Amino acid sequence: MKAFQYNQFGIDNLSLVERDSPRPAAGEVVVKLHAASLNYRDLLFARGIYNPKAKFPTVPFSDGAGEVVELGERVTRWKIGDRVCPIFTQGWVEGRPTAEKFRTTLGGGDFDGTLRELGAFHEQGLVRIPDHLSYEEAATLPCAAVTAWHALVDVGDIKAGDTVLTLGTGGVSIFALQFAKLLGVRVIATSSSDEKLARAKGMGADETVNYKTHPNWEKEVLRLTAGVGVDHVVEVGGAGTLPRSIAATRIGGCVAVIGILASGEGVNPVSLLMKSLRLQGIFVGSRQMFEDMNAAIATNGLRPVIDRRFRFDEAREALRYMESASHFGKIVIRF
Ligand SMILES: NC(=O)c1ccc[n+]([C@@H]2O[C@H](COP(=O)([O-])OP(=O)(O)OC[C@H]3O[C@@H](n4cnc5c(N)ncnc54)[C@H](OP(=O)(O)O)[C@@H]3O)[C@@H](O)[C@H]2O)c1
Repeated sequence: MKAFQYNQFGIDNLSLVERDSPRPAAGEVVVKLHAASLNYRDLLFARGIYNPKAKFPTVPFSDGAGEVVELGERVTRWKIGDRVCPIFTQGWVEGRPTAEKFRTTLGGGDFDGTLRELGAFHEQGLVRIPDHLSYEEAATLPCAAVTAWHALVDVGDIKAGDTVLTLGTGGVSIFALQFAKLLGVRVIATSSSDEKLARAKGMGADETVNYKTHPNWEKEVLRLTAGVGVDHVVEVGGAGTLPRSIAATRIGGCVAVIGILASGEGVNPVSLLMKSLRLQGIFVGSRQMFEDMNAAIATNGLRPVIDRRFRFDEAREALRYMESASHFGKIVIRF
């Protein structure tokens, strides 16, 4: 079977190789992958930032979708032909996260990821794809969508009528916009591009702010919330945006700390305590969260936003495209 692997960091070192097809151990199934999607972490990995101690050779990417083609002994959850996505953290089925569970993420240098034609996965590390989604659409879900769902629903406990702030128009933020609208929540979306903001508005964003033309964008958010601030922030920016996100949040609100897109100075703790704010770190989510999210996606016929599709042999080009940050939503590789 064909697979992409790194022997060292660097997008140019990603090479297409021939590997032995996997054999399923007891409790495992073999999945023929039909699509994979990119996340910002795949760029961080290529740069040697995500996991500097990665073991090589390693197959990158955490997200994919495919069909079950072979069953190991004692498999009970799946049959041949079932359409599945591997979950991001293979060992986190439900309950609290632990260090042990966090050591089981796909495509981060310790376990081979999804940029390969076939993979063996434990039967507990898979979820069923909603019927209305294609493999390409389903491949967008495991990291970005589950992260947005975890931030808003599990941690944020959002209610209809709340206000959510999303930053930029990448994978996580566009899923956050879609889930928020599904749940009857007002969305204020930011972007560096008026064109992307117009698209976000077309998807239901109630208010938009261009963070390039409004460098003090938190003031715009406060203006749009009558000086009160938003209930929730889906914080994908990191150190460079966190102080402004905190300033844009209401007293008692929640900031889900997710990303590291922008460098900056850090946070003054006084800004947290004087607002009685909740800062909650998020690391993707469990299988249970993925299944809850899929139920909501299926019930509402929600479709992920795919910006662009690349062929399997164009994985390097896909990473370069993500690096350009010109996308809106998700970038997909079809096999
Ligand atoms: N903790 C977790 O579990 C988890 C899970 C998934 C992702 N993440 C992290 O979350 C972040 C987003 O991931 P992603 O896969 O959604 O990335 P992505 O699709 O590459 O999104 C990139 C977009 O973010 C926006 N952006 C960049 N700098 C910004 C800034 N200073 N302020 C506001 N928006 C900015 C830009 O949108 P515009 O072009 O519209 O300006 C850019 O196009 C990354 O840091 C990633 O590592 C963390």
